[in-house]
Order: sequence, then C-alpha cells, then structure tokens
Amino acid sequence: METHESEFLIVGSGIAGLWTALNLAGRGRVTLITKDVLSEGSTLYAQGGVAVAWEREDSPTLHLEDTISAAAGLCNEAAARVLTEGGAEQVGKLMMLGCRFDTHNGRLALTREAAHRARRIAHALGDATGREIERTLAAQVRAGEDITILEHTFLLDFLTENGRCIGAQALDLPTGADVRLLASATLAATGGIGQLYRETTNPPVATGDGIAAAYRAGAELVDMEFIQFHPTALAKPGYPKFLISEAARGEGAVLRNAAGERFMAEYHPSAELAPRDIVARAIVAEMTKSGEDHVLLDFRELRPGVIDERFPNIAARCLEHGIDLRRDLVPVSPAAHYFMGGILVDIDGRSTVPGLYACAECACTGVHGANRLASNSMLEGLVFGDRCARAMSREPAAVSAAPGESAAPVTARNNPRPAAELRRALRQLMSENVGIVRSGESLARASHELASLTETGGGHGSRHPEHLELTNMLTVAELIIAAATARTESRGAHYRTDYPHPDAGWHKHICFRKGDDGRSEMRLREA
Ligand code: SIN
Repeated sequence: METHESEFLIVGSGIAGLWTALNLAGRGRVTLITKDVLSEGSTLYAQGGVAVAWEREDSPTLHLEDTISAAAGLCNEAAARVLTEGGAEQVGKLMMLGCRFDTHNGRLALTREAAHRARRIAHALGDATGREIERTLAAQVRAGEDITILEHTFLLDFLTENGRCIGAQALDLPTGADVRLLASATLAATGGIGQLYRETTNPPVATGDGIAAAYRAGAELVDMEFIQFHPTALAKPGYPKFLISEAARGEGAVLRNAAGERFMAEYHPSAELAPRDIVARAIVAEMTKSGEDHVLLDFRELRPGVIDERFPNIAARCLEHGIDLRRDLVPVSPAAHYFMGGILVDIDGRSTVPGLYACAECACTGVHGANRLASNSMLEGLVFGDRCARAMSREPAAVSAAPGESAAPVTARNNPRPAAELRRALRQLMSENVGIVRSGESLARASHELASLTETGGGHGSRHPEHLELTNMLTVAELIIAAATARTESRGAHYRTDYPHPDAGWHKHICFRKGDDGRSEMRLREA
C-alpha cells in the first residue's frame, strides 16, 4: 500500500482546512486530502459572510453577548470569547492574503443578520463571500511549498496506535487504491451533515464523513441533536434548495404568508430578524396553516440598487426560475443548514483521541451551543483553524512505521439495496421525523426505520464512495436520533412538541463514544 508521511495531515478543504494548512507554513510538511476537488464544499456556497466586531461602535463584548444569547444556554463561554476577541485579527490576515471583502467609502462594508445587535457581517462579491474566500485560500494553498494536495481522496478511517491517532487510511478514488497517510497531528475539517436531510442548503459532499470516522476511532461526539435549519431556501419543487441569505432580511426583505400578510411580528419582537430557529418554526407554522409548501420573501421594498449591489448571485439564480426580485415574491421554506454538534474538542481543537484534532462544522467546541449565530461559522474556521495550527505544531513527532489500527477497516456496508435508494429513504425519514419539529413518537419511528435501513444495508465490503458515505450518514443519523430522544426538553434548534419548553435540568451536553462492544455509550456533561 502506498504510504505518505508528513508532519501534518488535514482532511477537508473548506475554510478551516485551508486556513489551518496555511497557518502551519514553516512548521512542517502538510498533506491535505479532499474527496472532491479542492474548492468544493460548504464554504464555496456561503453567502452572508463573516461576523466580526470591526467598527468602533461595535465590540467583541457585544458580539460575545449576542453569540451567548443565540446559543440558548449551552454556549461554551470560553470558546465564544476566543472567537469574538480573535475575529478582527484573523479577518485582517485574510484581507492581507488578497481576499476582497466589499467596501463602502473605503471602509469594510458591513451588513446585519438576525440576532446581531450591530452591523458586523463582512461580505464579498455582494452575496458570494464563500466563493471569494475559497478562491483566495485555495490559491495560497496551491502555492504553498510544503503542502501536498490530494484531491479525490476519500477518508476511510483515522489510524490509531496505542490510542493515539497517527494519520488516516484513505481511498484514491480514481485508481481505487488504498493510501496510508501518516502524520504527527491529524485534523478533521470535513464539514457538516446536511445531506442527511431531504431539503438542505449544503452541497452533496456534506455527509458527515469526518464525524463518523472520528467516532469509529474512539473520539467523543457531542450535541448531536442540534441541527440548524435555515429559514429561507428557495422552494421550487424538483430543484435542489438554494440559500436565500439571511442578509436579505438584514437589508429589509420581509416574510409574507400565503395571504400576502407579514407574520413574523406575531412570533417574536425582532420579527424577520428573530433567531433562526424561531423564524424557521414560524414559517413551518404558517405553512401548516395555509397548507402551502412555502411562504414568500419580499424584496420589493428594498432601496434601489441594493439588489444589484448586495444580492447579484441570488437575483441571477432566482431569475433562472423566472423570479425577478424587483417584482416577484420569492417562494421560500426552511432547509437543513448547519450542524452545531460534532467531534468534542477543546479550544485548541484537540479531540479526546490524542493526535486527532477537529475544526469548524465537524467539530464542537460548544461555541454555538444549541443555536449558532448567523455568520459565526466562517469566523470559527479562521479563529480556531489558527489555534489548531499552533497546537498541532506542538505535537511530538511520532510518525509510526507500523500499519496502525483502522477502527473498522473498509467501513462501508455492501448494500443489497442500491445506495442511492437507501440514501433517499434516510433523508426522508430524517426530514419527516427528526427535522425542525420532533416528538418522542416521531423519534421512536425514526429509530425503528433507521434500524431497518441499517439492516438492509448490512454486510461489509463495498468501496464505492456512495456506499462509504451512506455508512457514515447512517452512523451520524443513529446518534442524532439517540441524542434527540434523550433530550426531553426544547432548546435552541431542538424543538419537541411533547416537551415544548426548556428545562433547567437539561443544562447539560449529551456525549457519545463508541464502546468496546461496538455500541454507543452515552454520558452527560454539565454545561
Ligand atoms: C446566510 O447567508 O444566511 C447564511 C449565513 C450563515 O449561515 O452563517
């Protein structure tokens, strides 16, 4: 088997993976693998921007308070302080590398998003911030002398030796050959899990691979029940969901129900700028009342020029569907958007497996608690990517010549039913039973249906990426359902009709690790 050795291994090529790779410059050789091409991933499609306390009338303290308040009682305050105090420095560094954020009269142009008390969202190309960030970072990483990029390389498993992560085993997709990647420090930066849901703003690569592989390697996972649904994705039957940025509401777009009436003020004093979970549930309630599969987003009152300047990409995508933002109302409905849970890490990205780090959406520092504040996620990739790089560079050089243990070698189940069909069934069951609104009954149904899907997908051996992804998705789904079942309250993005209120007794995090018998072990951690 081909073996690569380097000091650092990074899995994933979104903002966190690329930023960590760049911040490791001069500290050793970096191997960066990604299952698609370098630029593909959620970062590329991010619209709103990067939240940062930049102007004098704003401050890291205000940003911290907003982050804590959105997090519904489960925020790790130390992590949130690191995030909000470190933001301006990291955004400044990104600009020095050539990232062209939008400006106004020579100053950084800042917009507003829900639950932020200040205009603090830096954006680029109007509404294509992620594309500009990914372009900047990918160019720098490609030019990095000590960085080897392996595209189309699928993470099979993290390798461990005596309980320590020593790298990963991966599959070179074009040749089907296994590759062993040894490193002193390994980073999971593999993004989220949106593909577990039928409606998602995430790209097809968001299948929870790093989270499932970390779990198989013995790492603890946490906060798996908290999935954020973005309130406004374009609702055109038969087309993948397309995000309509929250910045649209920040700039004055309003929501209307089927009767054309504004409704958000009935649900929250901040109306359209209420926290995301509240807006998403309000939309579901309005859809249920009207029997329609969407509500309407109205850009018509926006100041002239705002659509061209701020939302050129959204306007063009809507026009492809015959919707002119200046004239027409946009049909929107919620879609799975962001995973607050993931691999339990400390504020330097260390997981519970020595040598294995995780950063951004696949990781959980607790910075987002039960509900992430808009545009804090790209900031997270920058601030914690920088910290991960520092911590990783302090790991002892420990490249092993031994084969290493792969937690569950070639992890895919050889499914008698086609993977695409199983994936569809999984997405359906998650959307219907473990979505914006859940109940004990729906979760029991989900658990039962998932067991039968897993059974149908039993056996081992397939190395087709679709099967490998499906195995990861089934693992993550099982833990999401278990956590959502255990949390008998409603908090942040986790809402249960049978326990509709927060319960002070649940001021706790639910953690899972894989037990020696292969079953998950749950423990509760005080918040
Ligand atoms: C958006 O543009 O609405 C998404 C921003 C985010 O999820 O942070």
